[in-house]
Amino acid sequence: MNKWFYFNFILLFLAIWKVAGRNPATDMQVYIGLAGLCFFLFNWTRHAVFSTIRTAANRQTKIKLANISKKILPFHRWIGTTALIIIFIHAFYAIRLFGFNLTYPKLTSGLIVGLALLAMVITGWWRLYWPGGKVRQAHIYIGISIFFLALLHILL
Ligand code: HEM
Repeated sequence: MNKWFYFNFILLFLAIWKVAGRNPATDMQVYIGLAGLCFFLFNWTRHAVFSTIRTAANRQTKIKLANISKKILPFHRWIGTTALIIIFIHAFYAIRLFGFNLTYPKLTSGLIVGLALLAMVITGWWRLYWPGGKVRQAHIYIGISIFFLALLHILL
């Protein structure tokens, strides 16, 4: 399996570990954040699948993974857009709770990763109408940045 499968799993595990035990009645915002992360990670797993296709030695494995990837493709943009909407709701509740306090690292890191997610969704839709290598590259680099920024946001 490609290293990104493990990285994704570790990030998900860390987030569940941080959120577990929080009271859903009073700390709904953290569960909404976790839901947003799940949507992002579902889409980001595409990167792990593509990396595996490139490196897999077995032709049958390559074909199987490419077929799965093709089936999910029509939903990819909508899953990413849903992640953005969920994170927007997460941010709304977090700001309502803590105020727009930029000295709070959790909130500042959240804002940065939220902006990166917005750029991810914009480049994702952009590619539908104006496909091109540069936008594709940008989309992937923004994805990698979101992964590490989200990790920081969750660990802080
Ligand atoms: C891709 C974007 C984002 C993801 C995946 C995400 C995910 C999460 C997760 C899983 C948590 C709970 C873990 C923990 O408390 O350590 C959390 C907490 C938090 N997030 Fe985000 N978040 C994102 C964006 C944002 C944005 C845009 C903001 C604010 C503008 C924000 C503000 C916060 C705050 C303040 C907390 C702490 C809440 C508390 O302790 O009650 N996050 N986030």
